[in-house]
Amino acid sequence: MLEIDRVTARYGPLTALRDVTLTAQAGSRIGIFGHNGAGKTTLLRCIVGAHVPASGAIRFDDRPIAAGHVPENVRRGIAFVAQGHNVFPNLSVERNLRISGLLFDMRFMQDVLKIFPVLQERRSQRAGSMSGGEQQMLALGMALMTQPKWLLLDEPSTGLAPVIVRDLMRKLREINETLGTGLIIVEQNVPATLKAVEHAVILKSAAVVFDATASELAQRSDFWQWF
Ligand SMILES: Nc1ncnc2c1ncn2[C@@H]1O[C@H](COP(=O)(O)OP(=O)(O)O)[C@@H](O)[C@H]1O
Ligand SMILES: [Mg+2]
Repeated sequence: MLEIDRVTARYGPLTALRDVTLTAQAGSRIGIFGHNGAGKTTLLRCIVGAHVPASGAIRFDDRPIAAGHVPENVRRGIAFVAQGHNVFPNLSVERNLRISGLLFDMRFMQDVLKIFPVLQERRSQRAGSMSGGEQQMLALGMALMTQPKWLLLDEPSTGLAPVIVRDLMRKLREINETLGTGLIIVEQNVPATLKAVEHAVILKSAAVVFDATASELAQRSDFWQWF
């Protein structure tokens, strides 16, 4: 379980998260939405330990996360796919996967390649020569090499064509169903993401203004008021 307990985060005088409280059951799928600057990325950065909250607590399986120590949290099972295609463009697909799994069990690459047949086919291709969608799949595969319990994704659909976004969301669900990995997906594309998640959270001006099931959000015609 992941517990975010009254977290406030600041950048100097600016409050990016105010008293944010959220609970995520192991293996669940959560979408986080909100306008630009709402605090979505800051929330993910706090969970993985890249930003240290000014106050509040974040617990992962009943233990505090290591604030300010990303590698320690990754080792414990929190993987973060930052915005943009985070691959080493000049290295092959396989090399990218190997580097990500360096401190973990390399045999897991077989499972990752099974989930992403496209990466199996392109094993020796230079990562930078693949399409945007393929590079995003590689970024996901790289995150999976750490065998995470939680996968945090910051706007994974950015720059992808609608049909590729659909594939991506399907793939994320498949990862959740086959490996049991919990998903926290920050997205601008609310309709596409609601097909992949069970819970929906909306941040507005640093605070949580909606926290319910994805179907409850899908039924609300007035949710754009929060954007
Ligand atoms: N490194 C930073 N230094 C100063 N302000 C920042 C920094 N990162 C983000 N902010 C500010 O914090 C607020 C929340 O940003 P962010 O979490 O990136 O929002 P979102 O991901 O929802 O667009 C915004 O006002 C943004 O300008
Ligand atoms: Mg952001």
